[in-house]
Amino acid sequence: MDSLSTLSSDSMYTLDESTRNLLIESAPLMEAWATSHCAAKDTGGMEEWAKTKNAQPVESCGWYHSTWQYLRLLNMVAVPPWYEFYQEALGNVLRKHPKAEVLISAAADYGMLATLHEAIQTTGAEPHIRIYDICRTPLRACQWYADRNGFQIETVAANLLTCDIPPASFDLIVTDEFLTVIKSEDKPIIVKRWKELLKPGGTLVTTAMLGGPTTPELRQGFAERARRLLDANADSFPQHGNGRHGDLIKLFDEFAGHHTRHMLVDEAEIRRLFDGFGEVSFVRTTTPGECVNPTDSFQIVATKA
Ligand SMILES: C[S@@+](CC[C@H](N)C(=O)[O-])C[C@H]1O[C@@H](n2cnc3c(N)ncnc32)[C@H](O)[C@@H]1O
Repeated sequence: MDSLSTLSSDSMYTLDESTRNLLIESAPLMEAWATSHCAAKDTGGMEEWAKTKNAQPVESCGWYHSTWQYLRLLNMVAVPPWYEFYQEALGNVLRKHPKAEVLISAAADYGMLATLHEAIQTTGAEPHIRIYDICRTPLRACQWYADRNGFQIETVAANLLTCDIPPASFDLIVTDEFLTVIKSEDKPIIVKRWKELLKPGGTLVTTAMLGGPTTPELRQGFAERARRLLDANADSFPQHGNGRHGDLIKLFDEFAGHHTRHMLVDEAEIRRLFDGFGEVSFVRTTTPGECVNPTDSFQIVATKA
């Protein structure tokens, strides 16, 4: 199945009040957790590109996880609410499997868990949720969200490309933009992995942006936009009054210097990746975008035969 849905820029996602309030509370916590939890790794993680390509190489993903939620407050990073399809796609699986075994296959923070939680509340399902990420900081943020909302999750810090997970473990695997986080040569590995990890009839729900390399000009544009939006939204940063905007600008500049998307080249690439997966739906949509504004992306629902 294939269809095209394009949103006009004024109907695109803007941050709702309750998410904004939650982020105002949790963003400084995430910054603190990142300081103690984001560790150096041999391979993988958000620092992979910056470790080798930057003039000043970085050791860990601290620059990413410490800053992610501040950038969410400016709507500058890709998050599940950018995509219309999640609630319907997740709801369909949860109605079919109310006790579903669910894998969140990496997440920058509790954003995907909150999206899943909404679908759980709508459907009344009682899934068992496991969240894997190579870094402990987003797992800490997910635990914070689950504790606050009174439900159980399991978290595992591991590299999803290489770690041991028994095959056919899950009815549902969900993740947002993981395909554009990992390098081109790793994309077929993770798609094959997701297929192995699904039970027969199980479903993968994910997204993948289209675009080119993250050029120095795009990085500079991103950093400048962050400054402008910070000035216009100072009330979203109550802990950074009294001249402390400089601390945020430092974080934003560092993020802009290191954050690298391995975007999909074209529709043919995404179709090739899912060749032989089973029944797959690719719906193209337009989102606010990160370095490129707006940007097109695929909403993917793939059910294993
Ligand atoms: C899923 S992606 C994109 C974030 C997403 N848009 C969101 O809203 O959560 C980001 C996460 O992938 C994780 N990650 C990167 N490489 C990984 C790997 N090989 N195995 C497990 N997690 C990985 C990073 O630590 C980061 O937290």
